[in-house]
Amino acid sequence: MTPPENSRVIVTAGIERMAVEGAELFQRTAVASVARAGLFTVAVSGGSTPRPMHRLLAEDPYRSGIPWQFTHLFWVDERLVPVTDPDSNFGSAERDFLNQLTIPAGNIHPMSSRKPPAAAADDYEHELRRHFSRFASAEPVFDLIVLGVGEDGHTASIFPGDHSAEETTRWVTAVKGGTPYVARLTLTLPILNRARRIIYLISGSKKAVVVRSLLTDASAQLPPQRIAPQRGEIIWLLDSEAAELLPQDLSRCIRKD
Ligand code: 6PG
Repeated sequence: MTPPENSRVIVTAGIERMAVEGAELFQRTAVASVARAGLFTVAVSGGSTPRPMHRLLAEDPYRSGIPWQFTHLFWVDERLVPVTDPDSNFGSAERDFLNQLTIPAGNIHPMSSRKPPAAAADDYEHELRRHFSRFASAEPVFDLIVLGVGEDGHTASIFPGDHSAEETTRWVTAVKGGTPYVARLTLTLPILNRARRIIYLISGSKKAVVVRSLLTDASAQLPPQRIAPQRGEIIWLLDSEAAELLPQDLSRCIRKD
């Protein structure tokens, strides 16, 4: 059994151990990006799974080891609810780590929940174009994108069968879906497919069926299976429950305690 090209799988004992692995990879990618280009551009996801990793980022060794001054933080997707709502991805990130760190305000790029969805998507695409043309090539190449996966096989707010999964030109689009079932903004496949590194964080036995489909059944055609950056790599960070239906002989898979 072989997961997709340019990808490897790391199975950890539980979500806390997975969070440490994620924070280590976050720091290593940040340090390498700043050494190479003077800048680290990362997009983070919402939902519950990344939260233990986010909390670790506000603690040493990551707090002092990550070059936050040179880090630009974007969002993979956002639920269009007030920032004070517990479902706001930006609001959760603020509470989990951003409020505890010293990062230049101009380095933090939340998706706006104040405008109508289509206008907010246009604004965010403009913000991305401004960032990438100012600091690098006009190509929107994220150094790191952290993604999650839902039980239905969505990633970011790209839902199976939805128009968001068919987008070929826009970098950001507005959708409605998921839990909570609200209007959302999401980065699209064209931009996700340009990343240098993608890390999926997936935890819990409720995700075991979809994880098996994603890594062993190419015919499932779920949105994550259409993410294969040509010049990038994908790291699947799973806990043992999410990995429980994977075959023991899965290649490019490391199991850590
Ligand atoms: C969002 C997401 C979404 C999430 C998955 C997994 O809803 O904001 O970014 O893609 O990553 O739904 O969510 P959980 O981590 O809560 O299972």
